[in-house]
Amino acid sequence: MFLKNIFISLTFAGAASASPLFADTIKIGEVGSMTGSEATFGVSTHEGIQLAIKEQNAKGGIKGKKVELISLDDQGKPEEAAIATTKLISQDKVTAILGEVSSSRSLAMAPIAQQNKIPMVSPSSTNPKVTEVGDYIFRVCFIDPFQGAVMAKFAAETLKVKKVAILRDVKSDYSVGLSDYFTAAFKKSGGEIVVDQSYSSGEVDFNSQLTSIRAKKPDAIFVPGYYTEVGLIAKQARKLGIKVPLMGGDGWDSDKLYEIGGKALNNTFFSNHYSKDDQAPAVQNFVKNYKSAYNRSPDGLAAMGYDAAVILFAAIEKTKTGTNAEIRAELAKIKEFQAVTGKITIDEKRNASKPAVVLEVKDGKFLYKSTVNP
Ligand code: PHE
Repeated sequence: MFLKNIFISLTFAGAASASPLFADTIKIGEVGSMTGSEATFGVSTHEGIQLAIKEQNAKGGIKGKKVELISLDDQGKPEEAAIATTKLISQDKVTAILGEVSSSRSLAMAPIAQQNKIPMVSPSSTNPKVTEVGDYIFRVCFIDPFQGAVMAKFAAETLKVKKVAILRDVKSDYSVGLSDYFTAAFKKSGGEIVVDQSYSSGEVDFNSQLTSIRAKKPDAIFVPGYYTEVGLIAKQARKLGIKVPLMGGDGWDSDKLYEIGGKALNNTFFSNHYSKDDQAPAVQNFVKNYKSAYNRSPDGLAAMGYDAAVILFAAIEKTKTGTNAEIRAELAKIKEFQAVTGKITIDEKRNASKPAVVLEVKDGKFLYKSTVNP
């Protein structure tokens, strides 16, 4: 599906224009992991963005111009994300960029967007450093100091655990940051981190780390990685007789998680941006439209991709002439915007302050547990 879209977008990519509103279309660039070990992140986000564009164009586009998406696959690699960003800006002359999901990849893109003064909106990169790159870099999601505190509170108050082990991905800015923020918040609430082990994304054998963890007899393990490794970690942990709850963050959000980890994922919990079971009309309306477009339920990535696109379109619509500086200024002014994943207000650091949900993985389903407000 997306490959076809990429092909079509590329064949449409035309000549440059100084002001986007005077071009035939408004070109939006997208960078995502459409292939590789985090492919579901890129594909879901892309589908969410496509749905937003379809709806926007059906309403007549933005300021009477149709929105055109140019999507590039970074294969889950930061260096490819940087190359794609440069191409979108210098060759395709995009007005703004949507992406990336992963913080490490957004961190590879952001300096390029900033230097060229091209507004970049990350749907779901949660590491604080991403928007610190500069005033053209935004996100529509919460950040990891909050996400870490949400899971620390859940560990202390809901699971009522005292001793937690950490297993972090040292190659991921997201995983390293979230581990540190969780640690700080959990200690503050009186908890103890009994062991802090690490791996590098791409590894498949976690037995030595898990054996060290088992020896410390933790009450729970915090594993803030991405779904491919987390699925394997859950499986190998249960095989080693580790029965305690596993916890994580938004990086778990994929249908593939359960395909990889199966029943080993029972008794596990993670924080996320939204739950498709939320009965709020904005959520249920999105779920209905997404299902009729793609024949499956939207995950958090799809919802965040959709929201990032919708907010960017709203900002462009508000500009007088559609210059980069105006779009940047309008993005900074977004307040109480009713999106699918909640009401979004962009703060002075260009982050969104909004609630998180905690989900339980049970026999392949993500069950809604609670909502935590900032
Ligand atoms: N928050 C993760 C990061 O910053 C990316 C992610 C978001 C993954 C949402 C899954 C779901 O790297």
